[in-house]
Amino acid sequence: MSSSSGAQFISVVTNVSYIHVRDVLEGGYDGKKVHLRGWVHRIRKQKKMIFVVLRDSSGVVQTVVKKDAVNEQSYASAEKMLIESLVTLAGNVKADPRAEGGFEVQVEDFNVLHFAEEFPITEDQSVEFLNDNRHLWMRSRKLTSIFKIRDEVFAASRKYLRQHGFYETTCPMFVSTMGEEGGDLFEVDYFGRKAYLTQTSQMHLEPQLFAMEKVFILAPSFRAEKSRTRKHLTEFWHLEVEEAWCDHECNMKRQEELISYMCHAVAKNRLPELKELGVDSKRLLDVNPPFDRMTYTAAVEACQNGGIDIKWGDDIRSDAEEFLTKDSGNFLFVEYYPKEIKSFYMKDNPDDHRTYKNSDLLGPRGFGEVIGGSERETEAQLIIDNLLRIGDDPEKYKWYIDIRRYGSVPHSGFGVGMDRIITWMLNLEHIRECIPFPRTVSRIYP
Ligand code: 4AD
Ligand code: MG
Repeated sequence: MSSSSGAQFISVVTNVSYIHVRDVLEGGYDGKKVHLRGWVHRIRKQKKMIFVVLRDSSGVVQTVVKKDAVNEQSYASAEKMLIESLVTLAGNVKADPRAEGGFEVQVEDFNVLHFAEEFPITEDQSVEFLNDNRHLWMRSRKLTSIFKIRDEVFAASRKYLRQHGFYETTCPMFVSTMGEEGGDLFEVDYFGRKAYLTQTSQMHLEPQLFAMEKVFILAPSFRAEKSRTRKHLTEFWHLEVEEAWCDHECNMKRQEELISYMCHAVAKNRLPELKELGVDSKRLLDVNPPFDRMTYTAAVEACQNGGIDIKWGDDIRSDAEEFLTKDSGNFLFVEYYPKEIKSFYMKDNPDDHRTYKNSDLLGPRGFGEVIGGSERETEAQLIIDNLLRIGDDPEKYKWYIDIRRYGSVPHSGFGVGMDRIITWMLNLEHIRECIPFPRTVSRIYP
């Protein structure tokens, strides 16, 4: 049974048992009388009948209100109502191959509960206009489908992690130290003191694994990213995982299993929405371990051979990331980045002390980074050395270093950019499409 079917309930107000549009489209009500409620998606008026496409959270269905089949007042309201009006109706379901979805509801009783004003969104409006009206545009079938898939991705990641013994926890969003590079911190006035919106929950997640061993958080992270790219939000949703007794190798296995699980869950449970968005579920079913792997050093060489301007020690910029995966349908781990371009909390790579035991996961076909992760340094003194090397003050991180002083345990972790992975899954033009109210450099409204 679809989730929509399960939602059947008796209205307190009218004592009527309403069903959802999807229930009609699934075919079980052919020839039966049904009660539906929702918003008017489209209206087409003819001489003695009005075609009303009704929308609820589960989909849209064509209904027909005939002048001689309903009372005069009902017909008069249907005639004057505009799209997005709120209605309830009763009618008989008839299979009709001409109607979208294969069924039509022939209306017997029709009530307008709220007459909508003229809806500002019409066809062919600019992206800017649509985003200014995001609060209304989100009713579109496209955005509704995206958000249902977003729900599935969030639910699947929680399900996978719980099944593997992880506890979900929470971390503060106000922090006093930075977690990643300093450049993109949002500073806030915290009662006269400087505080920041967290860039990552990792540092507050790690102490918790000393209690629970396997932990995760699904929360926003904030980056004052000036980069106006298709992949940057200033507030993004970050799934961060920390696992005790897990090394670099185990960490990458965890990532490839988790990402594959998320993709398969969407393919299995959200087929109608994928169809609505024109995404072939094969794209998601084809995501399976093992993902490809390449060392940073090999990646730099490959880029150089491909004519990209990069030398050992440089960060792998987005053009280089694109180059590395442009011809591949598989995800790619790039491992062992130089210490200079990664964070101080990562574990030294004993085979090459210039590098850390870390990895970035790049999406297929030039998509770019979706996860950053590493084995974490376990020695307090090595973290202090790393901080001193980059000119930072270990005193600020006392609490974080402290956890390495009392039963320091090998552990690893990673952070999934949830909006990025959804953007990849659905092959969206821009990351802002996948989140209800996107926050970017140029947008904080609505
Ligand atoms: O690579 P990042 O900066 O790694 C960390 O923050 C680690 N502390 C995570 C961890 O190990 N717990 O960020 C992790 C991921 C990136 O791979 C990217 O997918 C996403 O977060 N991300 C963004 N997504 C959207 N907009 C932005 N501005 C993002 N910045 C990072
Ligand atoms: Mg990163």
